[in-house]
Amino acid sequence: MLSEKMQKALNAQINAEFWSAYLYLSMSADFAARGMKGISNWFSIQFQEEQAHARIFMNYLLSRGGRVELAPINEVPASWDSPLAAFEDTLAHEKKVTALIDGLCRVAEEEKDFATANKLVWFVNEQVEEEETAQGIIDSLKMVDDSKLGLYMIDKELAARTYVAPAELTAE
Ligand code: FEO
Repeated sequence: MLSEKMQKALNAQINAEFWSAYLYLSMSADFAARGMKGISNWFSIQFQEEQAHARIFMNYLLSRGGRVELAPINEVPASWDSPLAAFEDTLAHEKKVTALIDGLCRVAEEEKDFATANKLVWFVNEQVEEEETAQGIIDSLKMVDDSKLGLYMIDKELAARTYVAPAELTAE
């Protein structure tokens, strides 16, 4: 049985994951409007991944007899100055999410909730990947600087990203 404290913390994380999804959907729309289809595609897949993260938490809460409480999703920004600005925001945001996951790990430890602590391992690893991926794209964007050809190549590369449902979700 989940403690009230753990349940509240997990519900807060569900909201944070949906906020992340909303943020990336907004980025996707912004770059689609500017004709950068590959970057838009990358953020659109990121949007789907964040929805999956929220679902994994929802399914987990339900599997432990918990209650899912969906709170309102706060407003997100609507435009970014450049692809670099958007990916820098992405990295900064993912670092915040990492801190949230770490916070959940601390609650699980305090509550001696070993099942939740075990569930969170997947998210701890996922955050390492999230930060590394965003940093990699920032590095590429900085490398091409203001080169239109460079940006075109990166946009083309990001167009190739496809959505694969996380194993953690499909296993449930
Ligand atoms: Fe759900 Fe991007 O972390």
